[in-house]
Amino acid sequence: MPSIEDLEKKALRYTGKAKSLYDSTHPDYLIMEFRDDTSAFDGIKKEKIAHKGMVNNRFNAFIMEKLEAAGIKTQFVRLFSETESVVKHLEMIPVESVVRNIAAGHLCKRLGVEEGRPLDPPTHEFFLKNDEYHDPMINDSLIRTFNWATDAEIITMKAQSFQVNEVLKDLFSAAELLLVDFKLEFGRLNGEIVLGDEFSPDGCRIWDAKTLRKLDKDRFRKDLGGVLEAYEEVSFRLGVPLPSS
Ligand code: TMP
Ligand code: ASP
Repeated sequence: MPSIEDLEKKALRYTGKAKSLYDSTHPDYLIMEFRDDTSAFDGIKKEKIAHKGMVNNRFNAFIMEKLEAAGIKTQFVRLFSETESVVKHLEMIPVESVVRNIAAGHLCKRLGVEEGRPLDPPTHEFFLKNDEYHDPMINDSLIRTFNWATDAEIITMKAQSFQVNEVLKDLFSAAELLLVDFKLEFGRLNGEIVLGDEFSPDGCRIWDAKTLRKLDKDRFRKDLGGVLEAYEEVSFRLGVPLPSS
């Protein structure tokens, strides 16, 4: 069996909207590729944004290392190339876990709440990962009945989502950024729940704390322009090491 340092990339296993997963020469590890593809509204709006894959790869590595340091188990192992990382091979749970600190996006549409309203305490929602059905909101009862996760796994996913929020809220606030909301995905490894997928401006909302300028994928969703520049600015302010361009 090759060591983690000597892994090589093998066959493509899965292609998502913005990332691809490859097998590696070790069955316990996969290679996660962050592509420049950018997608919103369940794949209806699509575009390539040059260098976004590289920025998100570094951003994700930075955040996952912070979370590991705070005691949260993650799928991330190490950077593999400019746009790829080595990750642990998880059995993914088809559920998205969303935490919100400030009202935005679908919460405003669904409940008629004004964008920008602080949410105290922060909210938690589960969605089913299913583009065809537009990621419908689900609850603990549906997750149990359809066997997407056990009661214990539901409790752990929720608790870890709030824990991630506490760690990242502080990290972002130190950079004069507001972590408005974010989406996480979890998987199983040896019977344990592990944070999987990615954390990047593609899957969260980040506003400048003073001006409330949007610095995340809403710039793409709403055609505000300067998408890559916003991702780079957030990276710079958080201290994510990016190659100088
Ligand atoms: P929402 O306002 O569309 O419900 O999204 C809340 C946050 O979760 C936002 O930062 C975007 C993120 N999210 C995704 O990245 N992918 C998804 O499929 C969902 C449902 C949310
Ligand atoms: N539902 C999310 C969005 O609107 C993710 C996606 O569809 O790609 O961006």
